[in-house]
Amino acid sequence: MNEVLNAIEQRRSVRGYEDRALTQEQIDALVKAALESPSARNAQPWHFSFVTDQALLAQINAEILKNSGLTDREIFYGAPLCVFLSADRENSWGPVDCGIAVENLALAAHGLGLGSVILGMPRAAFAGQRRAEFEQALKIPQTHDFVVAIAIGVPAMSKEAHEVFPGKVDFVR
Ligand SMILES: Cc1cc2nc3c(=O)[nH]c(=O)nc-3n(C[C@H](O)[C@H](O)[C@H](O)COP(=O)(O)O)c2cc1C
Repeated sequence: MNEVLNAIEQRRSVRGYEDRALTQEQIDALVKAALESPSARNAQPWHFSFVTDQALLAQINAEILKNSGLTDREIFYGAPLCVFLSADRENSWGPVDCGIAVENLALAAHGLGLGSVILGMPRAAFAGQRRAEFEQALKIPQTHDFVVAIAIGVPAMSKEAHEVFPGKVDFVR
């Protein structure tokens, strides 16, 4: 099958990772894929924070749990890398552009033989008193707001594809 279609079909959300760091080569390839994403009017309103600092991720994890009333959950599933995407708040297409870029990252990770899971939960880390502290630690520009994150690493689990619903498609001829 066509390589791109195959990657789209085979990608899964991976919620368990091996305790193995990514190589610099893998990280460079992910950075390239992120930056090659399309954006409205080519504004590229995003910023990517590539985070391998596990102590920082643990602090963000704790804040997410605190702000969302959850207990004892691994938001990042032990992934060695988490990319936080933020967008210029003045650009109305920013969240869409980041959504496209995060899927570029997911497919690039898959192409590299890695697993990933897109994460909305980290939003809760920016809903409380530690927002400014985390924005600074993640080097999020002051003009930007967090949009979405993606955890990436060597998969330690597999899962079935999600169910699809052809009824969600209409053909207008
Ligand atoms: C915007 C967005 C936010 C998501 N947030 C989370 C999350 O916080 N935690 C999580 O485990 N999965 C999260 N997911 C993954 C979805 O649950 C997953 O894509 C969906 O169940 C379909 O499964 P699949 O990715 O294996 O096809 C998110 C996905 C998207 C697109």
